[in-house]
Amino acid sequence: MADAVTLFEVGPRDGLQNEPRSIPAKDKIHLVNELSACGFQKIEVTSFVSPKWVPQMGDAAEVLNAIERRAGVSYAALTPNARGFSDAVAAKADEVAIFGAASEGFSQANINCSIAESLARFVPIIEAAKVANIPVRGYVSCITECPYDGAVPPDTVAAVAQDLFNMGCYEISLGDTIGAATPTTINGVFDAVLERLPAAVLAGHFHDTNGQALANIETSLARGVRVFDAAVGGLGGCPYAPGAKGNVATEAVAQRLATLGLDTGLDVQRLQNAADFAKELRT
Ligand code: HMG
Ligand code: MG
Repeated sequence: MADAVTLFEVGPRDGLQNEPRSIPAKDKIHLVNELSACGFQKIEVTSFVSPKWVPQMGDAAEVLNAIERRAGVSYAALTPNARGFSDAVAAKADEVAIFGAASEGFSQANINCSIAESLARFVPIIEAAKVANIPVRGYVSCITECPYDGAVPPDTVAAVAQDLFNMGCYEISLGDTIGAATPTTINGVFDAVLERLPAAVLAGHFHDTNGQALANIETSLARGVRVFDAAVGGLGGCPYAPGAKGNVATEAVAQRLATLGLDTGLDVQRLQNAADFAKELRT
């Protein structure tokens, strides 16, 4: 087992998108600045989605334009369509993420189209990103369970993951959107996905609804994955995934990885300070 793991901090986006209270942009900017000092290489700052769908992210451009940028940190944003992509580029996103799903029910609820339609919608984003030299990450949501369709077949996850990778995503983040996965079901997902893609291009994105996220991370580590998404303070949830609780807390993942002898390069004390501030933002 290699001894380094990358934590992709998604708290400012996945963590805050579901908060019912309108959080002032200045607090989001402060959170990102605190996170920048922790040693992350990747911070997902915001999403350029419809403010009618996710009002909390309506200040995406304001936040991304105002953060203090540290050398070596890639500041990322979600972009569901061509408009979101051009707005993200205008606000100087270093990388973007397109987000699809392995279940039709969640795809419809989250981005108002089928899986096939979503892949077609992502093509112009990928093409524009290639021209602009901006890396694109791909999410696959509902890798084991969908809040609308129930159990999701691993082969469907693998097919969507491969489609996103073949389109040009540099990395595929496999999302347990509602935190329903267990080590057994996660192993089933990897059995299917690793037949098509190497672990080196995969990331794990675990919500912690049932307290299984750390076990799922350990399972993923054993399958060779070395990148995990996490939200400082355990903030989060998806407005279109009823029952989805927060992402696994970054500080808990960092601690568990340290006990396993795996280095995240993070400043534990600064991370705890950022987590304390993130929790204060909660309603
Ligand atoms: P739609 O209603 O089908 O699209 O939504 P539309 O093109 O008809 O647009 C509707 C309105 O939104 C229009 O405004 C557009 O201009 C506007 P109106 O004419 O009615 O005034 N609009 C936009 N505004 C700003 N930025 C844009 C944009 N696009 C359209 N980019 C759409 C389709 C994809 C836009 C919508 O469904 C949407 O924004 N969905 C995003 C939902 C979301 O953000 N979910 C949470 C993130 S995913 C997640 O959390 C899972 C993840 O963490 C992984 C995991 O846990 O599994 C990533
Ligand atoms: Mg998520």
